[in-house]
Amino acid sequence: MAETPSCTTQNQADPVNLVIFGATGDLAMRKIYPALASLCRNHLLSHDTRILAVGRTALDTERYRNLLGEQLAETVPASCMADLGPRVSYLRMDPDEAGSGSLLAAALDDLDREGPKDRLFYLAVPPAAYIPLATTLGEAGLAGESDGRRVRIVVEKPFGRDLPTARELDAVLHSHFHERQIFRIDHYMAKETVQNVLLLRFANALFEPVWNRRYIDHIRITAAETLGIGHRAGFYDQAGVLRDMFQNHMMMLLSLCAMEPPSLFEAELVRDERSKVFRALRPLDLERLDEQLILGQYGPGMVDGRPVPGYLQEPGVRPDSTTPTFAWMKVYLDNWRWQGVPFHLCSGKRLAAKHTEISVQFKSVPVSMFRKTHGGAIPPNRLVIGIHPGEVVRLEVQTKGQGSRLCLQGQSMEFSYGADSDLGRLNDYAKVLLDCVTGDQTLFWRQDAVELCWGFLTPILDRCDCADGDLPLHTYAAGGPGPKAAAEPGA
Ligand code: BG6
Repeated sequence: MAETPSCTTQNQADPVNLVIFGATGDLAMRKIYPALASLCRNHLLSHDTRILAVGRTALDTERYRNLLGEQLAETVPASCMADLGPRVSYLRMDPDEAGSGSLLAAALDDLDREGPKDRLFYLAVPPAAYIPLATTLGEAGLAGESDGRRVRIVVEKPFGRDLPTARELDAVLHSHFHERQIFRIDHYMAKETVQNVLLLRFANALFEPVWNRRYIDHIRITAAETLGIGHRAGFYDQAGVLRDMFQNHMMMLLSLCAMEPPSLFEAELVRDERSKVFRALRPLDLERLDEQLILGQYGPGMVDGRPVPGYLQEPGVRPDSTTPTFAWMKVYLDNWRWQGVPFHLCSGKRLAAKHTEISVQFKSVPVSMFRKTHGGAIPPNRLVIGIHPGEVVRLEVQTKGQGSRLCLQGQSMEFSYGADSDLGRLNDYAKVLLDCVTGDQTLFWRQDAVELCWGFLTPILDRCDCADGDLPLHTYAAGGPGPKAAAEPGA
């Protein structure tokens, strides 16, 4: 079968001075360093790349390197650590303190003594620190590009907590950086199987002709997790599932399922098409919200055979919190292709199993010529794109069961993506980090799309956030299927 021979190889990125803000934090330790190690292992990180780890904690480079060694012992092989460690230096800096910008500029000039390099600022910090840090960078003249040096800034979701705050953050970022310098990360976009949605749709003549309201009954996008909120109560209790998962990952998956084919696979063209999907989102009817939105919160239960606390018992959660940890939402797109086709988006924490998938349910055959022998309705075809952990593409079809009688038998045509080989695969964060270094924005959020999604969600959030809100919050047992209401027909 045709496979581009070079798909497992990629050129090494140009050297860069990578500045990680929040260098002692969870994101840096759990995601960014393992991603850097994955790039090292795959020979994709230039030997001249240097890392400036920045944090408020009083440490020096040697103690920070020791800390890295301890924290990464289980996730990063010793050989990678030996390669990565010596390239890391540590700077204690607090953007709230006067002179922090010049301190940083001096540290960067110091790194440039080996030769000037591009700069990549990674904000691996709590969202409240985005504006102070972007301002510090801008005021210290560190956002500007000159003499061929490229400067980029990486921002993690959440990009604001509603439309006004997203615009406020954007105004600050744009007062110092150009849009082409800003990389808004959504790690879902780096998943191989998520990108595969586009390949499947647009590199096969088979699917596109039936990928519309004439043949598709509905599409269901599920991101179910067994995990609770871990140590993130401070963030999560203010955010909830709509801000944490819907405003970004779920919307991104929706756009990939629904977008029109761009004329070329190029960043701006792909991002234009994604934005058009968000522009077509039909606002939910706030008078009949309960028909299109089900919210839930996990109670105590059993996960993997262990008792786990309910959301309200999690350390750091307000005892009377009404933050939803589960949501099911039915959305429509008002455009030619999708008019009348419901998209069911469903995501929750502490559910029975971890699975992320897109399920495309086709319409039933118009009439069953087997009705005399077979009787009942014929189950419609379904295309399942498993994102995680099952990386599969499965087409469910009807066939003849073997034997002398005419019996229908459901069968699956299945392709298991991950079973092929792990060769050349980068972990999610490694892929997006590499794209930041090379300057490819295809997989990142553009501000217009961020605002369109917030524009859609903000009126809903305003209703949900309202203390005397009239929206029911269904409690569900941890480790179970989620709220009963979400399992009813039509949901
Ligand atoms: C993050 C959310 O963006 O995505 C988490 O903040 C969530 O709450 C995580 O657990 C899910 O990512 P994945 O890749 O495990 O599906």
